[in-house]
Amino acid sequence: MKLLAIETSCDETAIALIEVKNKGKKVKFKILGNEISSQIEIHKEYGGVFPALAKREHIKNLPLVLDKVLKQSKIKEKDLKKINAITVTTGPGLEPALWTGIVFAEELSQKYNIPIIPVNHMEGHIFSIFPQKGKAFTVENKKELFPMLTLLVSGGHTELVLIKDWQKYKKLGQTRDDAAGEAFDKVARMLSLPYPGGPEISRLAREERNSPLEEYPQGEVEDLNTSTPSLRATPQEWNKIQLPRPMIYTKDYDFSFSGLKTAVLYLIRDLKKKNPNILNNINIKQKIAREFEDAAVETLVHKTIKAIKQYKIQTLIVGGGVSANTYLQEQMKKAIKEINFSSPTTKKIKVHFPSKALTGDNAIMIGIAGYFRIKNKNNIKNTKNIKADGNLSL
Ligand code: KG4
Ligand code: ZN
Repeated sequence: MKLLAIETSCDETAIALIEVKNKGKKVKFKILGNEISSQIEIHKEYGGVFPALAKREHIKNLPLVLDKVLKQSKIKEKDLKKINAITVTTGPGLEPALWTGIVFAEELSQKYNIPIIPVNHMEGHIFSIFPQKGKAFTVENKKELFPMLTLLVSGGHTELVLIKDWQKYKKLGQTRDDAAGEAFDKVARMLSLPYPGGPEISRLAREERNSPLEEYPQGEVEDLNTSTPSLRATPQEWNKIQLPRPMIYTKDYDFSFSGLKTAVLYLIRDLKKKNPNILNNINIKQKIAREFEDAAVETLVHKTIKAIKQYKIQTLIVGGGVSANTYLQEQMKKAIKEINFSSPTTKKIKVHFPSKALTGDNAIMIGIAGYFRIKNKNNIKNTKNIKADGNLSL
């Protein structure tokens, strides 16, 4: 089966052509072509994604991206009629952006008479773990896979979802305000770091974790951004860099990242009162980034582990842009290892993160999620009446 997948929910115009091969109980995904055209540079100056601009860029990029995918796949455009289905993201996301992908899919669908499969972007993030280098995935062995749990952490979402069977979702909890990725982006902005902020915060936090400073460093401190000696803070100010873990011990599976972000805002405001240039000091920035990442990751890991224990989870899938965070990966794997170690007689819990290239938005995951819909004869619609839904939930 060959699938063309289209993703335009946010600021990446992505198309992939995937071949799915079934061998007994195993399924293998061969990526014939895959292209992502990122708009990050365009949205950077707004510090976030600007919907009208995203729409314009998607419309411009879609035919160019398709061209590249066809070239990579060594397929001529007229041979698109041999494709079995087009899978396209219909939500959640920015509606003007989603519509561009849907309209493009409809044009191809009519021209080449191919059915369209609507795909939920978050379901795509769940399925982004499947193409692992050279490995086939055994789909039939349900006893070993289910119940599954997924932690979806992106720029727009933070949710814990129980998966009892393919496409059977039960949301256990979600953020009550900001998404985890959004908090990373906003805190990065407070620290004058570029958008998207996740990777930047993570880099600074890693630097501080690799060579932690117990107290405020003595002597002249050079600001790495300007190469000038920067103003120092007092040890009291240094020790003040501590943040809360909002909602970590609440009984539910909800999260709150807005409170954490506000705590960073107040912390910076207090530090600046005495020392307006304090953020010129790279050590201070590193320490704030580390403390923020610690707080966010601790909360995510704590609630995920609680759900794993309560629902006797066999498989954990972490997906979405924030799943690229190496500290989150380390801490989650460590916590799962501890559970597996403490109960040697029960089956080992498996944890999966997407490969680095598939943590962010891409079309491969939309193709694979669409394949599982086709396989389970779920939601196969024809080209008519496909609508964008910015708030579509799982
Ligand atoms: O899934 P995604 O690419 O787009 C949405 O569907 O939202 O997620 C983007 C989010 C951004 O907020 C970005 O800052 C965050 O993922 N992100 C990270 C990292 N890489 C990307 N957050 C934390 N650590 C990272 N390494
Ligand atoms: Zn996403």
